[in-house]
Amino acid sequence: MKTVATEKLTRDQVKLVDASIAALETAYNPYSGYFVGAAVRNRRGAIFSASNVENAAYGSTICAERMAIGKANSHGARDIVALAVSARSDDFDKGEITSGPCGSCRQVIYELSQVSGCDIEIILATADKTSVAVTSIEELLPYAFGPKQLQINISKYA
Ligand code: THU
Repeated sequence: MKTVATEKLTRDQVKLVDASIAALETAYNPYSGYFVGAAVRNRRGAIFSASNVENAAYGSTICAERMAIGKANSHGARDIVALAVSARSDDFDKGEITSGPCGSCRQVIYELSQVSGCDIEIILATADKTSVAVTSIEELLPYAFGPKQLQINISKYA
């Protein structure tokens, strides 16, 4: 995974990171105090963002990445080409740290990469943008399981 100086990011990358940072302020996080924002962009350039939504039954919590993907899908946007995720913690000791998508989110992002037919770019950023890394779903989830393994043709969902 490559750490990238903020000045080296493209305008599209900065826009996506900024959308994820704006979204993290809406986090519903009474249990962890951890703020996560995610933003996805489709081929036409539409951006959909969301934050993590926690639950007293902890396992029912939904990550920011999956919330953003669900929001895009509800607008008919499944041809996702890039995703930015940013995070910060209320816990001062934890400071500003980049947050990679959890395993379940990686699986969901992989599914969308099969719909859009491209390796989805993933940008990880701290909320203050002091640290930004650029990677992709193929790098974060190699040898993934997807529709091909089930010989399912998903092209009509693009
Ligand atoms: N979280 C996300 O939103 N995305 C991830 O990829 C990892 C974890 C959230 C879920 C929960 O609200 C908090 O971070 C702590 O796990």
